[in-house]
Amino acid sequence: MRTQGLSFVALLIAAAAFAAAAAHAGDIGASPSPAASAAYDPAALPAGDLGDSIKLGRDIVMNTQQTMKGYVRAKLECASCHLDGGTVAKGGSFIGTASYFPQYNRRSNRIIALQDRLAECFLYSMNGRAPNYASKEMVGLVSYIAWLSRGTPLLSTPSPANRFIEPLPSASPDLAHGATIYKQQCSLCHQASGAGVAGAFPPLWGDTSFNNGAGMAHIDRMTGFVMHNMPKNAPGSLSLQESYDVSGYVLSHGRPAFAGKTLVENSPLPADYY
Ligand code: HEC
Ligand code: HEC
Repeated sequence: MRTQGLSFVALLIAAAAFAAAAAHAGDIGASPSPAASAAYDPAALPAGDLGDSIKLGRDIVMNTQQTMKGYVRAKLECASCHLDGGTVAKGGSFIGTASYFPQYNRRSNRIIALQDRLAECFLYSMNGRAPNYASKEMVGLVSYIAWLSRGTPLLSTPSPANRFIEPLPSASPDLAHGATIYKQQCSLCHQASGAGVAGAFPPLWGDTSFNNGAGMAHIDRMTGFVMHNMPKNAPGSLSLQESYDVSGYVLSHGRPAFAGKTLVENSPLPADYY
């Protein structure tokens, strides 16, 4: 009972801190910059079916739990890692992404299309399964990412300025230091258990988190993500070493294992040709 009371109070404090942070978003950069918002303005979408498909893609990225039931097991939204729907530089940005595909993929040792890359985030980050490539959901995601990438020349190279991956210190992370940082700067929202709070703060480890095949399970990715985007109420406040230590601590906990050797097969969806 007592712990529950305490964590409820912690949650209230976290919510208040978060609201205060949002109110001062201009000062600390917790909210999308004006340029980022311009990347997705619903009023600027093409009219008709294409606009609807882009909107659906945006909705899936923001509300994955609601829109992709049955495809995702992790209690995450795409936007838990692709901040503000993938419009934030160094916050999992999708701006330009459509123009990097087709691309060589080391993991599957072949050239992949954007749909294949999307399937990877379903398999690993969402610990789920990929929707059919011809489904309106998959096409919606492709439409949305293509819209955010409009103007980027085809087959560009990803811009390092958009990426959060960081070169790591040579020594191993200091897990005890990481545990202290976690307690002081992360547990308020993500909870001491790492399980987060459904609908508010995403899980960082445990059964409901991303699986061990996910990009975020690599310490170089998590370190960069944390350094540029966390804690949510004071992003940019942690040094590389602090981000590295706390990410090491987060990743020292258990998470779902990827089943391995998963075959993504799409049986054709019905379509009439004229
Ligand atoms: C747990 C965090 C996490 C979640 C949740 C997540 N992703 Fe990702 N995603 C990543 C990471 C990490 C990368 C690699 C980023 C990099 O290399 O800079 C990535 C990369 C991608 C890319 C390639 C981007 C590029 O420019 O190369 C796409 C597309 C993508 N994710 C889509 C999605 C979609 C759609 C969802 C929801 C169904 C999703 N992701 C959920 C972490 C996540
Ligand atoms: C004020 C609340 C808050 C604090 C404090 C906070 N986070 Fe987060 N964190 C969030 C929210 C909310 C998201 C989802 C993305 C978004 O909405 O910006 C998130 C997303 C994440 C993610 C990617 C999604 C996932 O669940 O894997 C990681 C990793 C992460 N936080 C790590 C940390 C670490 C490490 C700290 C401490 C240094 C921290 N966070 C502190 C609120 C917080």
